[in-house]
Amino acid sequence: MSQPQDDSRALRNAFGRFATGVTVATTLDPDGHPVGLTVNSFSAVSLQPPLILWCLDNDSNNIEAFRRASHHAINVLSLAQEDISNRFATWPVDRFAGLPWQPGSGGAPLLPDCCARFEVVNEAAYPGGDHTIFLGRVVRYEANPGLEPLLFHAGRYRRAAED
Ligand SMILES: Cc1cc2nc3c(=O)[nH]c(=O)nc-3n(C[C@H](O)[C@H](O)[C@H](O)COP(=O)(O)O)c2cc1C
Repeated sequence: MSQPQDDSRALRNAFGRFATGVTVATTLDPDGHPVGLTVNSFSAVSLQPPLILWCLDNDSNNIEAFRRASHHAINVLSLAQEDISNRFATWPVDRFAGLPWQPGSGGAPLLPDCCARFEVVNEAAYPGGDHTIFLGRVVRYEANPGLEPLLFHAGRYRRAAED
């Protein structure tokens, strides 16, 4: 059961036993182009004030864009959006090609047909080892309770089962 601490594959696998939803974090780069990537490190933090967090790999192509942007958005994917998740985790592709996204607060791209969308002010970016922890203050949000969420567990997409 226990693993040596320097076995990063084992640690990654252990982290992966924690089931999550799947989101796409988006913002505008300094040239005004939409950027985004698939993220499952999202978490709610606080209701009062309304805060969320997520973690971005320091090697991400988009680290500077997210650091510099005043706002970003978290798009919570639905079960039907597995292809969107894969697209925003693949490089190089034009991730926004053919996607009818809309600008939210600060221009941050909002994707259609999501379970929920959070528009946030980039409140802080904290060092977190090989990742940066972004803390966002929610300035606008919407939820679509009629849509089933896309889940991720042990390296695979899943769907929620009832009964
Ligand atoms: C389900 C799933 C969850 C992911 N979660 C994260 C995450 O929380 N943080 C992160 O930095 N990368 C995460 N990734 C990996 C990035 O989406 C992927 O490396 C992407 O290509 C990074 O793009 P970029 O370098 O253009 O920003 C995840 C990938 C998948 C498929």
